[in-house]
Amino acid sequence: MARPKTSLAVVALFALSAVALPASAAAKQKPCPRSGAGCTLVQVAAESGIFVGTAVSNEITATEQVDVAANFNAVTSENAFKWSEMSKSAGAIDFATTDRLVAWARVRKLRLRAHTLFWHRIQNAPWLKAELAAATDPAARLRELMAERITKVVGRYRGKVAIWDVINEPLALFGAGYDTADTPVTPKNIFFTTLGEGYIADAFRRTRAADPKAKLFLNELLWDARIGDPKSDALLALVARLKKARVPIDGVGIQAHAMLGTASPWFPSTTASLKRYIDALGKLGVKVEITELDVRLPLLADQPNPLAAQAAVYRRVASACAQSHACTGLTVWGQRDSHSWLDSYSLTSATAPNNPLLLDASGKRKLAYQAVAAGLLERRR
Ligand code: XIL
Repeated sequence: MARPKTSLAVVALFALSAVALPASAAAKQKPCPRSGAGCTLVQVAAESGIFVGTAVSNEITATEQVDVAANFNAVTSENAFKWSEMSKSAGAIDFATTDRLVAWARVRKLRLRAHTLFWHRIQNAPWLKAELAAATDPAARLRELMAERITKVVGRYRGKVAIWDVINEPLALFGAGYDTADTPVTPKNIFFTTLGEGYIADAFRRTRAADPKAKLFLNELLWDARIGDPKSDALLALVARLKKARVPIDGVGIQAHAMLGTASPWFPSTTASLKRYIDALGKLGVKVEITELDVRLPLLADQPNPLAAQAAVYRRVASACAQSHACTGLTVWGQRDSHSWLDSYSLTSATAPNNPLLLDASGKRKLAYQAVAAGLLERRR
């Protein structure tokens, strides 16, 4: 996605200026009304105890910095930790962008979620397939490469990252099971086809050893997170297997991209169905976070008030998170509608602008913003 580049000097200037309202100062203000009216999400985070986050780009643009400081107390690296971004050729690792993002989040006291160590679908290391094809023992070579990535990357940022998304989107795009063949919409899961499901346990164990204090998450894309949906049930079963095998998994991220459907986005069917699903994960002994929420507005074009309908989808997710004690955070995938991954992603670019976020192109709060506030405020510390 093309974004204006910001010079390092500008980044440093913003990093050092105290634009952000510290959580303690926010807590001293007048409490938010139940409706969330007039409250920033930073205040809502302080009052609910639920982390409110956003994805930040590699550039950390000046606009992004202002929006993050004013509205969020947690960030996820949109791209900076991905294997494709950090390593352009076998054996090479470039830490510059990631270092900058980690340092920036630390100065701003933003909780950092490092996304992600292993993801087969869109941004895997571009050289990995050829490397394995050339190996005499591809499984051994893949184990070695994964171990090396964990040692070098997790080892370098140990103690500076609150949460590692160790594994992203392990399950098949649709239905239960794994992607075992390349298709026009998704490549096969090369980790699974080379190593079997054990790649997940192995990655978690190695990550725990490299950074014992960070929380370790598995992040998954569910079109509608509810008991009875085949993919959602497959995720529950996977987490149960991991827990039974004493794999050190602390949490599950539910991406929550509301991007499919005709009359309305599919995610989630109802507040109650999502709450029950989060509760079910919680019973397995993991925390849950909503990790990549966005809601495509064009899918709601047939509604009398599309922006209100979009806010209603956001509200369902925020309310479900607040109502389930397993839920510790809610992150949206960007800040302003003018910078959304959906406008350049092949499956959703045709409907650009997708206007899926909480702030409009000028930075003004949309109806969805207050809907998230009101939903999260269903829980108070
Ligand atoms: C997206 C980024 O936002 C884009 O900039 C990038 O080009 C592709 O990936 N699920 C995920 C995220 O887990 O990593 C994806 O992020 C969005 C879908």
